[in-house]
Amino acid sequence: MRRHPKPNLAVLLLHLLFHLAASQELTFTYSGFHTTTTTTTTNNPNLTINGAATELRPDGILRLTNETSRLIGHAFYPSPLPLLAGAAAGEKKAASFSTEFAFAVVPEYPKLGGHGLAFVVAPDPRLAGALPSQYLGLLSAGDVGNFSNHLLAVEFDTVQDFDFGDINDNHVGVDLNSLVSNASASASPVNIKSGDTILAWVDYDGDAKLLNVSVAPAAATAGRKPAAPLISFRVDLGEIFVDEMFVGFSASTGLLASSHYLMGWSFRLGGGGAPPLDVASLPSLPRLDGGSGGTPRRFDYSDLHRATRGFRDLVGSGGFGKVYRGVLPGGVDIAVKRVSHESRQGIREFVAEIGSIGRLRHRHLVHLHGWCRRHGDLLLVYDFMPNASLDKHLFSPDHVIAKRLTWRIRYNILRHVASALVYLHEEWDHVVLHRDVKASNVLLDADMAGKLGDFGLAKLYEHGVENPSTTRVVGTLGYLAPEVARTGKATTAADVFAFGALVLEVVAGRRPISSEEVVLVDWAWERYAAGGEVVDARLGGEFDAGEAAAAVKVGLWCSHPSPPARPTMREVVRFLDGGDPAEVPEPPPPLRPVCSGEVGYYDFMHSYKSSSSPAAAAVDGVTTTQTSVATFPYSPLSMRSSHVSI
Ligand SMILES: *[C@@H]1O[C@H](CO)[C@@H](O)[C@H](O)[C@H]1NC(C)=O
Ligand SMILES: *[C@@H]1O[C@H](CO)[C@@H](O)[C@H](O)[C@H]1NC(C)=O
Ligand SMILES: *[C@@H]1O[C@H](CO)[C@@H](O)[C@H](O)[C@H]1NC(C)=O
Ligand SMILES: *[C@@H]1O[C@H](CO)[C@@H](O)[C@H](O)[C@H]1NC(C)=O
Ligand SMILES: *[C@@H]1O[C@H](CO)[C@@H](O)[C@H](O)[C@H]1NC(C)=O
Ligand SMILES: *[C@@H]1O[C@H](CO)[C@@H](O)[C@H](O)[C@H]1NC(C)=O
Repeated sequence: MRRHPKPNLAVLLLHLLFHLAASQELTFTYSGFHTTTTTTTTNNPNLTINGAATELRPDGILRLTNETSRLIGHAFYPSPLPLLAGAAAGEKKAASFSTEFAFAVVPEYPKLGGHGLAFVVAPDPRLAGALPSQYLGLLSAGDVGNFSNHLLAVEFDTVQDFDFGDINDNHVGVDLNSLVSNASASASPVNIKSGDTILAWVDYDGDAKLLNVSVAPAAATAGRKPAAPLISFRVDLGEIFVDEMFVGFSASTGLLASSHYLMGWSFRLGGGGAPPLDVASLPSLPRLDGGSGGTPRRFDYSDLHRATRGFRDLVGSGGFGKVYRGVLPGGVDIAVKRVSHESRQGIREFVAEIGSIGRLRHRHLVHLHGWCRRHGDLLLVYDFMPNASLDKHLFSPDHVIAKRLTWRIRYNILRHVASALVYLHEEWDHVVLHRDVKASNVLLDADMAGKLGDFGLAKLYEHGVENPSTTRVVGTLGYLAPEVARTGKATTAADVFAFGALVLEVVAGRRPISSEEVVLVDWAWERYAAGGEVVDARLGGEFDAGEAAAAVKVGLWCSHPSPPARPTMREVVRFLDGGDPAEVPEPPPPLRPVCSGEVGYYDFMHSYKSSSSPAAAAVDGVTTTQTSVATFPYSPLSMRSSHVSI
């Protein structure tokens, strides 16, 4: 994001003229606000931001304010737009324009938000002298109502201010040069400060001189604009605007504070509606943990019994236990994983670690609410993920389901999982190894965002301290790094290997080891080396070629048999965010490891493949949490799929 408040007008005008010449109208679409993205589909100019506004990485959400008191945040499109263009001589006529944006307001305390967010059209993006609180970062006390403001704002206000005649604490208003709205309406049933992603549309028809505003919750409407606008207001913006106007957003906090987020924005100058935002590809917000966060708590068995109505709704089962759906008081949807007897040792280890594992918080990790022990069973309470696990979609025999997993959704899921792994590997106070990254451990929320689940196998070890050698090989065939199979030692590089298998799986739509015993990495290498297509044919050619090429290179690179040759998850995130194959180094070709008495990777794979029944169990992956475990020293045939995976 550019931080200088004064844009270079000459450069910006050139940029604008280029746009206008190319299309006779200006349109732009931001799906997330990444400053680093270089793909052709998203080479938008960086927004000009000011005050508390900041881009959240890695997802590219723009946060206008956090929950600190009395902040202002601004974000504007860097070039001014000719909003009075097309006027006949002597007449001031405003051009038609349309915009759609996705935002969320997350209050510091549930139900008490402050203050609000506004879409703004103003002659100067600096909005000098503007105040926070009820002024929404738009105006100062002295210039409210002054006609020389030339300001249009559409406010989404969460505080009822009596001085400005606000109708309630959840309203939408059209403001002309003032904070006393010229038109306003209650947003209800939409709750602006629910923390949910909300879509808003502002359409102005320059001929009819009619300004419409619509709002809808993104999840419930799948991005569709309501049939009728919330506000339809007759106004001649020709009397408000000057020749060149800046468009953007402002938000403020007061004594009460909310975080105000923007996830996407599209705009069209000229009639015809703004380009629709693709809700599924917008970055999704970090999940709320009731404001206070906190470590997972211990549940009473009776509470879980009640929440699951007596463990009635079975939604999945694995080698170790079953998963039930339930609802906590307060309406939080949960999945209760009940881990069975066999693995008491695993349960003891897990409970010992729950205090630290449970503090992990990342928007792309499945949230653990708490646990309960009952006669040696362990019950784990997670957020319920309505769209189940990635493999269910990727390998659904129902082609309609598989087809709904578009390239955009797939690529975003890879970025989500990569960001969760960087967090585990580098951003927390301990290095956390996941040790079982695979498609069935990637769960999908209502917006099809990916969340990594199942931390039962993760072990903590201090930064910089060698991981003490473990005695079990833990992981799933096809995702298991060759050195882990040899030594039993898990490392961040082994998670990277598993992630590489996941990338190739998602890109190619094939399992890491297919039922025809084809090892996906080998297959992808052959195709790649021969210049063939690796991307899933079921996408029917509908994918971003640059992103796909970058993903294939990343997948192959992560899958290198030698751990030091693999990238780090941070590098992976950079390359996937860039989505530019030219920026990803050529993956080093996999040399076959020399086997000096040890079992080599290829021997391991091939002997394992021929041991039919356990392989079939792991390869089918029908269960959500199937894990294969071998003891060390092991023979491939001693692999079982019975170890606890939580
Ligand atoms: C946007 O900002 C980033 C980071 O400052 C910079 O690397 C990038 O080149 C900028 N992109 C454009 C299109 O200006
Ligand atoms: C909120 O943003 C302000 C302004 O950018 C910053 O000074 C403050 O440290 C932030 N607070 C938190 C809790 O991040
Ligand atoms: C309105 O603003 C202009 C420009 O800042 C200023 O000159 C003028 O005095 C203001 N008018 C009123 C009534 O405050
Ligand atoms: C908007 O409201 C102000 C008073 O607050 C009034 O002076 C102005 O004429 C109104 N504009 C329109 C277009 O209704
Ligand atoms: C505004 O809404 C009205 C219905 O109230 C509709 O007739 C009109 O076409 C809409 N105009 C725009 C620009 O969306
Ligand atoms: C994901 O879940 C939501 C909410 O249950 C549902 O509306 C949507 O259709 C699902 N998406 C896919 C691609 O299955």
